[in-house]
Amino acid sequence: METARVIYARRSVRKFKTDPIPLDQVEFLLDAAQQAPSWMNSQSPRYFVINNRELIDKLADESCQGRRSLNILKTAPCAIFVCALPGNCGKGAATRDGKIPEWFMFDSALAVENLCLAATDRGIGSLIIGGYDPDIARKVIGIPDEMIPVCLIALGYPDEDPVAPPRLSKKDVVRVNGPAEAWK
Ligand SMILES: Cc1cc2nc3c(=O)[nH]c(=O)nc-3n(C[C@H](O)[C@H](O)[C@H](O)COP(=O)(O)O)c2cc1C
Repeated sequence: METARVIYARRSVRKFKTDPIPLDQVEFLLDAAQQAPSWMNSQSPRYFVINNRELIDKLADESCQGRRSLNILKTAPCAIFVCALPGNCGKGAATRDGKIPEWFMFDSALAVENLCLAATDRGIGSLIIGGYDPDIARKVIGIPDEMIPVCLIALGYPDEDPVAPPRLSKKDVVRVNGPAEAWK
C-alpha cells in the first residue's frame, strides 16, 4: 500500500478474528518497528511477543482487570508487550541540572507507530493499549527490572471496520510564525 494510504487506513481495531497471524508476518512487523529512528540509534525498544492463547488471556485477566482493554485483548491472537531499555538513551541531552530526557519513550512511540502501519499494510489490525497495569504485566511476562514497560499492542485480523474518529481542525492545533496566527 502507498504510504499515505496506509497512514489514513490505520485504525484502532478492538475486535479480532481468531485466525493466528503467521510468524513471518509478525517478523515483518517487528522489522518495521526496528527501522524506526531512535536517539543516537540507541534502539531502546524491546518487544515481547505473546501468541499463546492462555498467556494472552492471563495477561488480559490480570493486567487489564476492570478496563475495556480486557475483553479486547482476549479476542486478539497476538499481543506485543513493548518495553524500553533506557541505557544511555538521551544522556547527551541532559539538562544543566543533570535531568535526562526520557527519549526512550519517544523511541518506543516511533517504533510502535511503524509496527501499526506495517500491520495495516498487511491487513492486520492493531490496538495500542495504555489501559493496563504495567507492574502486573511485567510480572505475568517476567520482564527484567532494568526494562520499563511502555504499552501493549493487540494484533489480529480485524473483525470490525472502525470509523475514523474525528481529528481537530488545523486551525485548532497549528499556529504560524508564533502563537497568535492560526492556520487559515
Ligand atoms: C498511548 C496510547 C494508549 C492507548 N490506549 C488505549 C487503550 O487502553 N484502550 C483503547 O481502547 N484504545 C487505546 N488507544 C487507542 C486510542 O483510543 C485511539 O488511537 C484514538 O481513539 C484514535 O483512534 P484511531 O487509532 O483509530 O485513529 C491508545 C492510543 C495510544 C496512542
